[in-house]
Amino acid sequence: MIVVTGATGNVGRPLVRALVREGEQVTAVARRLPGADRVAGARYLSADLADPEGLAPALEGADALYLLVSGAGEGLDPDRILKAAAGAGIGRVVLQSSQAARTRPDSPSHDHLRVFEEAVRGSGLEWTVLRPGGFASNAFAWAGPVRERREVRSPFGDVGLPVVDPVDIAEVAARVLRDGAHSGRALELTGPAAVTPRERAGAIADAVGAPVRFVEQTREEARAALLEFMPEVVADGTLAILGEPSQDERRVSPDVERVLGRAPRAFAEWARDNAAAFGGPAGD
Ligand SMILES: NC(=O)c1ccc[n+]([C@@H]2O[C@H](COP(=O)([O-])OP(=O)(O)OC[C@H]3O[C@@H](n4cnc5c(N)ncnc54)[C@H](OP(=O)(O)O)[C@@H]3O)[C@@H](O)[C@H]2O)c1
Repeated sequence: MIVVTGATGNVGRPLVRALVREGEQVTAVARRLPGADRVAGARYLSADLADPEGLAPALEGADALYLLVSGAGEGLDPDRILKAAAGAGIGRVVLQSSQAARTRPDSPSHDHLRVFEEAVRGSGLEWTVLRPGGFASNAFAWAGPVRERREVRSPFGDVGLPVVDPVDIAEVAARVLRDGAHSGRALELTGPAAVTPRERAGAIADAVGAPVRFVEQTREEARAALLEFMPEVVADGTLAILGEPSQDERRVSPDVERVLGRAPRAFAEWARDNAAAFGGPAGD
């Protein structure tokens, strides 16, 4: 049995789906459980990573754990979580970290992920760390304005990054949770090509079949918008990557293809699959 934390989020949802499709028994964990929007065949349990002892019913009888840390990891103690996992008999842990945990060693916004990576490596469990770059799904922040005004507002309109589709992260996660071939390694997960915010807005326009206006925000305008839903330290870390990506952050990583034997999914494909959120036709 495989336990997926963060099971209702961007990565967790397709991960639960992928594991069930592969015939695995899955326990899907989050604090608030979805009503109707559940993957048939998975067991859903409410638990809080901030209370590792409370994870016991979810961890009981499990072989592997997908560990996803949300926000800035406030109130989470990786050693206690991993001790609870090892105590329950889990042998393998896959941690969802971030590319920036490596590329931005001094950025306070990723301190907590570096601490989790270190704890996982020292846990005595078989481990793999996934380090995705920026998610294609961050474009959901544009869904309301696209539906209402056919408009995207973003800073750094012409700075490209190889954003990754959460479905690819989930499929890589499913593979490494199920077999140990990538144990003891950190995998960097990106999309197939750098795409600028202006180009992403264009792909969304194509997906919904209507023009979408691109309005370039100043850094300050973007910061104010981000602060409405993320802590200051995360907002500043995010803007630094979006505005001044390093060579490493612009680079397409070969790891998705190495693990899955196929190229990563393009942003345009993500936009087509999620067109309904932007007022376009529903995907499959
Ligand atoms: N967005 C990016 O561009 C990007 C890039 C690289 C790395 N990352 C990393 O990816 C992670 C976010 O992944 P995501 O987008 O898939 O997540 P998400 O969509 O934000 O969902 C978070 C999930 O975690 C659950 N959760 C949050 N706090 C919890 C707690 N204390 N105990 C148990 N469950 C909890 C949430 O459900 P409840 O709230 O109901 O508990 C939800 O299922 C973060 O670690 C982030 O640093 C993101």
